Formats: sequence, structure tokens, C-alpha cells
Amino acid sequence: MAPRAVRVALLGWGLALCCLWCAGAGWRPDKGEECNRSWHFNIDEIKDLMPDMKIYWPDVIHPSSNRTQFWKHEWEKHGTCAAQLDALNSERKYFGKSLALYKQVDLNSMLLKFGIKPSINYYHIADFKDALTRVYGVVPKIQCLPPKQGAQVQTIGQIELCFTKEDLHLRNCSEPGEQEARLAKGAAARGMAVCEYGPVFYPPPAETQP
Ligand SMILES: *[C@@H]1O[C@H](CO)[C@@H](O)[C@H](O)[C@H]1NC(C)=O
Ligand SMILES: *[C@@H]1O[C@H](CO)[C@@H](O)[C@H](O)[C@H]1NC(C)=O
Ligand SMILES: *[C@@H]1O[C@H](CO)[C@@H](O)[C@H](O)[C@H]1NC(C)=O
Repeated sequence: MAPRAVRVALLGWGLALCCLWCAGAGWRPDKGEECNRSWHFNIDEIKDLMPDMKIYWPDVIHPSSNRTQFWKHEWEKHGTCAAQLDALNSERKYFGKSLALYKQVDLNSMLLKFGIKPSINYYHIADFKDALTRVYGVVPKIQCLPPKQGAQVQTIGQIELCFTKEDLHLRNCSEPGEQEARLAKGAAARGMAVCEYGPVFYPPPAETQP
């Protein structure tokens, strides 16, 4: 049975709120396609969110003249799927709720409380798992980029927290079985995999951007 969860990825490509329940409902993860191609992104719907978007969900990929492309992509790829939930069934709700969840979990501050901050030195993957599990009371999913050529240590690529579909409360990401395998596959396509148990780099954000 597919878990009923919403997943928020908090590092790497930035914030992304995706649904995990869409497998049987038109979501085609293998093709990376959006759920509803006729639901076009309209920046005007989220005008009032712009100050927050620029702080918490910046488009660091595109040139400054084109800084809405990333949000368009997020909406088309993830938003139109998440929109199957009443709580997320408009562009305004999707981006607004994502920002609210992001502020609520306040990941960077929580890691800082445990002395974990971007550094040129490395951490142990258990430092992250233990800290996040203690803070949130649920098991996150942490993905890594493999060691660069000539290096030996993996790099944190993405930290994901999962929320219940019903009321968007934190829940475990880990779920044995089929779903886990499929997620791992999707992640591998982006060059990320579940972290190996061992040392890990947590560099300043600029160094994990593609
Ligand atoms: C897709 O989006 C369009 C435009 O918002 C909407 O009218 C339609 O009902 C949506 N289709 C599905 C299957 O949700
Ligand atoms: C902005 O994005 C559009 C769509 O991807 C592209 O066609 C256009 O060339 C881009 N403009 C700039 C200045 O990068
Ligand atoms: C979440 O995972 C932890 C550790 O594996 C487990 O102890 C806990 O019971 C799980 N919670 C739920 C609600 O499944």
C-alpha cells in the first residue's frame, strides 16, 4: 500500500513540496511528468507571497532576468500533483502552505541547535539523523551526492521531511516496501542516493547547487 504522505525536500534544489500518493492516480515518476498539463503557472496568483518566495524559495538556477522559471517548474512538476489535496488545490495554497511548513520546521535553526552548520569539515551521517529525529520526533530521509572524483566523502544533497496527507502533520518518511524502492530510484536519476552510513560533507548551499 502506498504511504499517504506529502514530502518536503529542504536542501539541494531548494524547497519542494511533492505528493507521495499519486502513484496510482496519474503520477508518472518514471517520465517525470506533471500531473495536470493544462493547469498553467500564473505568477500573479502568488504576487503577495513574493517577499517570502525570494527569501525561502529563491530561484538560484536561472539568470536574474528569468527568476520565475523555477517556480513554474515546481508548480508544473509537483504542484499540479499535490493539488489533488484540498489543502493544496490551488497555486496560492500550494506555495503558501509550502512556505508555512518550511517556516514551521525551521530546519537550519534546528540543526544549529545541535551544532550542525555548513562547514568545510565533515560530519557523520548519524549526527543528522539523530538530531532531526530528536527534534521532530519522526524519521527524515536524507539523500547524498556521491563523493566527487578523487574524494572519499559523500555530500548531503537533500533532507526530506514527510507530512501526513490528511492534515499535514509530520510523519516518518521511512516506509518499508515498494514506495521506498521507487523513491530511491527517482533520486538516483538526479544523481542522489540514500546516504551511506559514515562521514558526510555539509557544505554551504552554493556548492550543492547544480
Ligand atoms: C486540470 O487543471 C484544469 C485547470 O485548472 C482544471 O480545470 C481541471 O479540472 C484539472 N484536471 C484535473 C484532472 O484535476
Ligand atoms: C527565460 O526562459 C524562457 C523559457 O525557458 C526562455 O525561452 C528564455 O530564453 C529565457 N530568457 C533568458 C533571458 O534567459
Ligand atoms: C517512526 O519511526 C520510528 C523509528 O523507526 C519508530 O520508532 C516509530 O514508531 C515510527 N512512528 C510511526 C508513527 O510509524
